[in-house]
Amino acid sequence: MARIIPIATDKDKAQAIAAATEVLLRHLPVAIPTETVYGLAADATHPAAITSIYETKGRPRFNPLICHMADIEMAERYADFDPISRQLAKAFWPGPMTLVLPLKDNCGIHPLATAGLDTVGIRVPVGFTAELIRSLGRPLAAPSANSSGRISPTTAQHVDADLGQKIEVIVDGGPCPVGVESTIVKVEDGEIRLLRPGGIAVEVIEAVTGKSVMRPKTSGTAAIEAPGMLASHYAPNAAVRLNATEVSGREALIAFGPGDISGASTAHAVFNLSPTADLTEAASNLFDYLKRADASGATGIAVAPIPDEGLGEAINDRLMRAAAPRGSEG
Ligand code: TXA
Ligand code: MG
Repeated sequence: MARIIPIATDKDKAQAIAAATEVLLRHLPVAIPTETVYGLAADATHPAAITSIYETKGRPRFNPLICHMADIEMAERYADFDPISRQLAKAFWPGPMTLVLPLKDNCGIHPLATAGLDTVGIRVPVGFTAELIRSLGRPLAAPSANSSGRISPTTAQHVDADLGQKIEVIVDGGPCPVGVESTIVKVEDGEIRLLRPGGIAVEVIEAVTGKSVMRPKTSGTAAIEAPGMLASHYAPNAAVRLNATEVSGREALIAFGPGDISGASTAHAVFNLSPTADLTEAASNLFDYLKRADASGATGIAVAPIPDEGLGEAINDRLMRAAAPRGSEG
């Protein structure tokens, strides 16, 4: 049974750092809050620690993990920054931006964390987790704190329901404000390439850098670029139907915006991601509402159309994975 530790006060935080550190030093994983989703964190420099993440999640080992750092100075000890990546780090860290960068030789990050690649995905999270990393003095590898292929957790209770029997400590930072995972980009030959849409919209990256962001040519390309981007992911038990313009009485509806959808009044359950059609609010509710719709006992989940701009790109990416045929789960 996991111990759930709040971080509402400075005293709580100190206790959470002490409890998490004690588990991390035994090379076991702890669940940590970030602004995007909860992570399952372990020492990125220690093979047993990283193995414990893969085992706890049931995650394929060819899928590299994001390494979390306390700040940009710490990140520069592990990876080489080109000028554009440094600009992105300065603009968006701490925050939901992961940079894939060349790994420095013998820097200490274990090859199990990077799945043997010569690059590493790095981000600096907001708040408690950066403090924990600074206190520990080493990077934390952390994928989302869910069983592989399932919906990412945005509350400590989500983590507890899925992994509570397998881990010792869950640090409870409340609901994650962003609600979708970080945006992953890789700078190559002076171009910014999007590997995964996420909590920072492409338009915002373009506005800050004055450069256009290259998207993968097809969704299939992303599977090769970011190995974790397997087609079926974020899989609820109920079948997910996208761009629904009507809903049946046995389905749950995930709505968006003020508009009415035919059959909504007799749907099995209705969850509106954002009644005012605010994509930031919708992202923060997405995973919780998918989980609730799934738990409602509905035969299927009908999802209203979501605009494909701003954070809508990340929302639609996750929804497409939730709707994809099963069998290729990551
Ligand atoms: O917001 C987030 O990014 C959350 C929180 C916990 O920080 N983490 C997260 O991690 O989503 P994870 O492990 O579920 O997703 C990591 C993604 C995978 O798709 C993986 O393939 C990709 O990052 N990735 C990691 N290192 C990479 C690398 N060196 N090259 C390409 N892709 C990489
Ligand atoms: Mg994940």
